[in-house]
Formats: sequence, C-alpha cells, structure tokens
Amino acid sequence: MSNFEPAIIAFVCNWCTYTAADLAGTSRLTYPKNVRLIRVMCTGMVDPQYVIKAFLEGADGVLISGCHPGDCHYINGNYKARRRVKLLKEILPRFGIDNQRLRLTWIGASDGIQFAEIMGELVTQVRELGPTLPDLKMVI
Ligand code: FES
Repeated sequence: MSNFEPAIIAFVCNWCTYTAADLAGTSRLTYPKNVRLIRVMCTGMVDPQYVIKAFLEGADGVLISGCHPGDCHYINGNYKARRRVKLLKEILPRFGIDNQRLRLTWIGASDGIQFAEIMGELVTQVRELGPTLPDLKMVI
C-alpha cells in the first residue's frame, strides 16, 4: 500500500479551472502528476455516468471543478453540477465507493495557486483512502 499512487480524473471547466491549471503551469507551480484533466465546456455538462464510469474503470478519485457560483458562463451549469454531485455522493456507496473520493470545487481562472494546492490535497486524501475497488480492477 505504501507505493500506492492514486489515479485522479478531474473534469474541469474550460473557462475557469482549466485556465487556472494553465496558469499554474505557466507560473511553474508544481502539483502531483496523478491528476488527469478532462476539459469540459462547463461543469453542467458532466453527466453523472461519466463519474461512475471513471470509478468503474479504475479512477481512485474524481474531481469536478468549475466557475464560482454566479460566474458560470452558461448561467447555471455549476448549480446543476452541485446538485448532481450531491446525488452522486448518495449513490456511490451503493457501488462500494467511498463518497469522499468525489469532490466538487470552484477554482476561478486566476486561482493558479489554489489549483495547485487543491490538487495536492486531493491526491493526499485519496492516497490515504487507498485504491478503489481493487477486486474490480483485477477483473478489468
Ligand atoms: S462555464 Fe464554468 S462552470 Fe459553467
């Protein structure tokens, strides 16, 4: 378990969190390499099935991150994401997945430092939780 390195899938909004990730990179901030970013136009387009599929295919943690409430470029996409995450947190334990593995954050375009910090915190937290569904991974 000590060598366990979690795989994290992050669905990030193009307009805010993806830009923050870009800023973190251009500012030469470091964050763990465990995070794979999937750029979406808005957190409101992250279907709950994407999250479940990520876990079932081996992700140890999933992050959805976008614009702060009130700043969504599509008016209310992030509010939809917030409702879906609340629902997913109720559903995930039925799949045997600890709902602490799913996280929703708001990271604005100018928050490169916050982006790097949150990625570090998330990887540490998921590393402590251990792998998701080790038996299922062996089947896959
Ligand atoms: S455009 Fe960023 S969350 Fe909707």
